[in-house]
Amino acid sequence: MGKTVGIDDIATYVPKVYLDAEEMAEARGIPPGKLTRGLGIEKVSIPDAHEDASTMAAMAALMVMEKNDLEPKEIDFIHVATETGPDAAKPISCYVLGMLEQRYGAGSFDHVGAPETKFACVGATYAMIDRLAYIASGWNRAEYSIVVGTDIAKYELNSSGEPTQGAAAIALLLKENPRLMAYEPQFTGFGTVDDKDFFRPIERTTAVVNGQYSIGCYLRDMRIAVDGYRKNMLESGVLKPSRESLVDKIRLASFHSPFPKMVLYAFADFLIHDWRRLPRWKKIAEKIGPEPSREGFADVEYYISDGHKNYRRNFTGTKEFTEEYQNKVADSLTALSLIGNSYTASVWLGAASHFETMRDDLEGKRFGIGSYGSGSSAIVCSFIVQPDYRQVASRIGLIEKLGQRQKISMTEYEDLHEGRLKLDESVMPPKNEFALETIGKETNDYGYRYYRYVE
Ligand code: HMG
Repeated sequence: MGKTVGIDDIATYVPKVYLDAEEMAEARGIPPGKLTRGLGIEKVSIPDAHEDASTMAAMAALMVMEKNDLEPKEIDFIHVATETGPDAAKPISCYVLGMLEQRYGAGSFDHVGAPETKFACVGATYAMIDRLAYIASGWNRAEYSIVVGTDIAKYELNSSGEPTQGAAAIALLLKENPRLMAYEPQFTGFGTVDDKDFFRPIERTTAVVNGQYSIGCYLRDMRIAVDGYRKNMLESGVLKPSRESLVDKIRLASFHSPFPKMVLYAFADFLIHDWRRLPRWKKIAEKIGPEPSREGFADVEYYISDGHKNYRRNFTGTKEFTEEYQNKVADSLTALSLIGNSYTASVWLGAASHFETMRDDLEGKRFGIGSYGSGSSAIVCSFIVQPDYRQVASRIGLIEKLGQRQKISMTEYEDLHEGRLKLDESVMPPKNEFALETIGKETNDYGYRYYRYVE
């Protein structure tokens, strides 16, 4: 066995303003129930005029440093994952480093490595694996590395993707012998396909998305990654092939949440796939009938076919599904239904939500992660919750922060969405936070972003 490496702490940042899902539905002429019950969305986190993916990232990184009394010399890497970076060449991590130096002193972070990773919503999970592998190898020169996931999910006004917007950042503090959870590298499964479900060409601020098709891609890649994870578990002898399900081995799970209902689809399809070969499926099959044939459907199309959707709906009505879902997954959505999609940050906000809401003893229990990014790739991996997790979990504070935000009107939201407010015209002026002050206009600084910490 190699070194024990993993997540020592999680810090979360959410903008201070949000849009109410029911108000959005009314304004768009959609039945509110479609957003609240159909998609599971209650509130949508909206970045204010002075915010961008870099300020949110810097806030999450600053929080993780401050709450752990860390000095810059203790940090080895600041590694940022994003798909909403403002620059095709300069990584957000450099802007973050510059902002942190406004707090810790010029040059205080000049020794760190600071790359940026891009792979849609799965980017932060890829970055985390890279950094953990580096720490496990012993190449690190300082004890801690920070991985930040930061994103603004933005679609066209009036589009079907509009309700699935959101914004947030997370900072994962990584180290050897972590307090929160230890990574199990030996089981990790990947599922990757070159696909066109969702992408954002560099000239656009909103994504090109084939909504229903993207749901099928998520489910396909997750299945491929789950198969890899299961194979690795079987080979290591942790899982008994004839009777045990992967879910029996997992106490909690967090999935990427573009909208909370997607997590229900993903967990249901995961269970159907994992259970249909086990003795327990006989009883369930008696209740929900035979699985529809896949004949005539390509892989992705099958997942979004009416036949499969009805079958899955019947399965999610069974007590066997409900028990597993309520015990292991539902609490991840407490925070996510109040934030919306935050791309790279989403799956980790779900993990934070679990740690904040779960009252059972989690020590030694397995925590599963189902991370998906369009384009497309899924990662299924797991951690073991560590004995000292309680002191970390009790200080996450995400749910409390979500309760302190201010609601904005549809007009304010549309002004922010369309960039009609100047950087100094925020709905809630910045206070104790980083703000984007100006964007360079001269030949030598055209497009360069100037940030300042506002007391
Ligand atoms: P849509 O197609 O308009 O919605 O938009 P729908 O017709 O599929 O309805 C959604 C649900 O609402 C259905 O529930 C309806 O029945 C229900 P289901 O049957 O599936 O359980 N419904 C109602 N419920 C109660 N009362 C009502 C009512 N009416 C309908 N009155 C879609 C949904 C997600 C496609 C759209 O919002 C979209 O395009 N979003 C953006 C893309 C997206 O989020 N894709 C998700 C998978 S890809 C991914 O996760 C990656 C991503 O995060 C990007 C990245 O990786 O960077 C997006």
